[in-house]
Amino acid sequence: MLEALTPQPQDKILVLMAQFREDPRAGKIDLGVGVYKDATGLTPVMRAVKTAEKQLWERELTKTYTGLAGEPAFNAAMTNLILGPGFADRAASAATPGGTGALHQALELIKMASPKATVWVSDPTWPNHTSIIRYLGLNIAEYRYFDAASGGIDEAGLLDDLAKVAKGDVVLLHGCCHNPTGANLSADQWAKVADVLTTRGAIPFVDLAYQGFGDGLEADAEATRMIATRFPEVLIAASCSKNFGIYRERTGVLIALGEPSRKAVVQANLAYLNRQNFSFPPDHGARLVTMILEDPALCADWKAELEEVRLNMLTLRQSLAEELRRATNSDRYDFVAHHRGMFSRLGISEAQVNQLRDTHAVYMVGDSRINIAGLNARTVPILAQAIAAVGG
Ligand code: LMR
Repeated sequence: MLEALTPQPQDKILVLMAQFREDPRAGKIDLGVGVYKDATGLTPVMRAVKTAEKQLWERELTKTYTGLAGEPAFNAAMTNLILGPGFADRAASAATPGGTGALHQALELIKMASPKATVWVSDPTWPNHTSIIRYLGLNIAEYRYFDAASGGIDEAGLLDDLAKVAKGDVVLLHGCCHNPTGANLSADQWAKVADVLTTRGAIPFVDLAYQGFGDGLEADAEATRMIATRFPEVLIAASCSKNFGIYRERTGVLIALGEPSRKAVVQANLAYLNRQNFSFPPDHGARLVTMILEDPALCADWKAELEEVRLNMLTLRQSLAEELRRATNSDRYDFVAHHRGMFSRLGISEAQVNQLRDTHAVYMVGDSRINIAGLNARTVPILAQAIAAVGG
């Protein structure tokens, strides 16, 4: 049987991770995978997470199973963090293994409820979006999003393509901190997107993997909240990997908003899908998140550290834009300072990306996406010089 298997396409982000690890050169710079790093290159365990882990070790009396959809307290705390109050009667929710688990479960739900629907994704999008949609055999289409020339949004292309969405199609939107481009919709553009999707009768599906990494915890949730208020049905896949720094704990949540009268059935379907795929979702990370969100002192400490992380990335953005101005004697990279989140797509060629890796030991994804958090005050000028040296 196993002879029938053929090699699968590798995820380019994970390939890059392995290449970087194997590179023996001192001073190599990793701007690949989307993991936050401090100035020393460490991805720290956040203070509040450490405290919660200690408390949990002292207080936890059992490790028996949780609910199939996870602990209701986690789901409620996450729904509140993302949407604020007022959605309890419409929101079915389930804990999932990370944000990817939430995306996968949402796509399974779409497949069950509306197998002929097309799922629309931004061009470009996170490679695993397209990969999972195809793996599940769902129809996929792309809408224009990024204007490579300006590093901003192709608003005309975006609205034009969304006007072609059929009734009942699902449109996957990045709630904040667009991955891979770093270019985000303004409030005005979000309103236009909501208008056209309403006209088309589409179902928004928001991927919120970086809440707190862009303009702040509340600001980063604004677009998702607007969508949740305006549409009768919305899917939201959220990750705790980045904003709680618990990548390997696999902590995420899927929220399905619908008619209040349908909530119990939707909830039962989320639990059913968990059961079919992995039975009970991982609990450790979800429990830490619940403890942090429910304890005012822990929550305040977590928010303060998250804000430090966000501001650090913002400072790096600004200094990189300035260094690139100096090194290239042009303003073509000024968009780096306006982008938000972990990523920016620089817009240099794949040949230049390869040259940066081979000659300068600088690693970025082939589409020239950089992880801003992979930089520090020392490496920002090195990167800018290297980009100039390869003619970027
Ligand atoms: C990324 O885009 O680098 C992250 O979301 C990590 C991943 O799993 O790809």
